[in-house]
Amino acid sequence: MKKITIAIDGFSSTGKSTLAKQLAKELEYVYVDTGAMYRAVAYFAMQHSLISADFFKKDALIEGLSDIRLEFRFNSDLGFAEMFLNDENVEKQIRTIEVSNFVSKVAAVSEVRAKLVEQQQEMGTNKAIVMDGRDIGTVVFPNAELKIFMTASAETRAQRRFDELQQKGDNVTYEEVLKNVMDRDYMDTHREDSPLVIADDAIEIDNSYLNKEEQFAAVLELVNDVV
Ligand code: C5P
Repeated sequence: MKKITIAIDGFSSTGKSTLAKQLAKELEYVYVDTGAMYRAVAYFAMQHSLISADFFKKDALIEGLSDIRLEFRFNSDLGFAEMFLNDENVEKQIRTIEVSNFVSKVAAVSEVRAKLVEQQQEMGTNKAIVMDGRDIGTVVFPNAELKIFMTASAETRAQRRFDELQQKGDNVTYEEVLKNVMDRDYMDTHREDSPLVIADDAIEIDNSYLNKEEQFAAVLELVNDVV
């Protein structure tokens, strides 16, 4: 069976990563969560006091980019790769609402995108990869054999994210999560560099009404049509 590149893009909390992980496992492909990379850069900016609710020291972040080393390390117990920032496992830290609140600002910086896109393209040189994000089918792998664009209503996505955060013991309200989801949608679709848009050749899946199994079966069929 030929090895292909699968690009999964879409709005936040549409279940992209769940689907991408399932697919990668089934096909024995590598899975890359590019959102984790942008989140790790946002976390770095927070750690170095380069971003807060009141300021964003964008130039200092650009200068500091050479000090940022991002790496995915596979955790066989969990069955997926975790994000390491300069050798520190930051998988938990990057999933907080604080990081979610800053990440889209950081992701709008062209220099940040250039660095991360280069690393993502390197990871995909041998194909057999499922990558999820916002610009995978448009910028990172415009020639991907299969492009999926996932969407769901903001309320559905906020509810999912809220449930996840609550399970982790994060003290947030549903309204706060909904606001974060809507703010990020706006910033991600309106930024100048690589805004979130649906690629011409992407297949759109609205998963507001599909359960995980139905969605997985539908996408697996699409994969089988291509390989
Ligand atoms: O996928 P996730 O919601 O974790 O992504 C966090 C943020 O990272 C997004 O809201 C977006 O601002 C940014 N991002 C991006 N390009 C990608 C992946 C994520 O700009 N390929």
